[in-house]
Amino acid sequence: MKKKLVFATNNAHKLTEVRAMVGDDFEILSLDDIGCHTDIPETADSLQGNAVMKAEFVRNNYGLDCFADDSGLEVVALGGAPGVHSARYATDGHDHRANIAKLLREMDGQSDRRARFRTVIALMTDGCTHCFEGEVRGEITTEEHGTNGFGYDPVFRPEGHEKTFAEMSDDEKNAISHRARAVAKLVAHLKTMKP
Ligand code: IMP
Repeated sequence: MKKKLVFATNNAHKLTEVRAMVGDDFEILSLDDIGCHTDIPETADSLQGNAVMKAEFVRNNYGLDCFADDSGLEVVALGGAPGVHSARYATDGHDHRANIAKLLREMDGQSDRRARFRTVIALMTDGCTHCFEGEVRGEITTEEHGTNGFGYDPVFRPEGHEKTFAEMSDDEKNAISHRARAVAKLVAHLKTMKP
């Protein structure tokens, strides 16, 4: 029988991507699949803290092996902001347009435009916690380019590329993204575990 593992998300895009990468050894369940309809708190002051908090919530309340992720954009000239606050940088909601507008305002006239996206995944299995990190370095553009993707994609140009994430296809972005790199490390670890 396949080992079951909860991914503490209901984001269909993330679930599809992770299921494809994990393959047949594990059955990846979503929060909906286990009947969890709670908005799990993410109040830690770091990406790792939030990932661990979400995974702990599932383990403590459902007793299941699980993993959770948290991502953010870290801009050098802004001291690492918006970082863990990326989703709610400009407003309380997930208003991507307002977040981009605020970021471009904060970066107005700034010559150091270096930034990185970072993802941390926390895995809790058999009472142990393992964290996996992925990052992609790049720079913040001075204006928006492209319409694909989500979040800060139109203003992030990865190092060594001419296009922003929002000008790339899903496949192009997934080949280099912070999330894909963290998931690849998670999958490599899962493959070492006995199902
Ligand atoms: P989450 O932890 O994956 O939900 O990401 C938190 C926030 O970081 C998102 O709401 C976005 O604002 C930002 N973010 C994370 N990953 C990306 C990405 O791949 N592109 C653009 N923005 C992202």
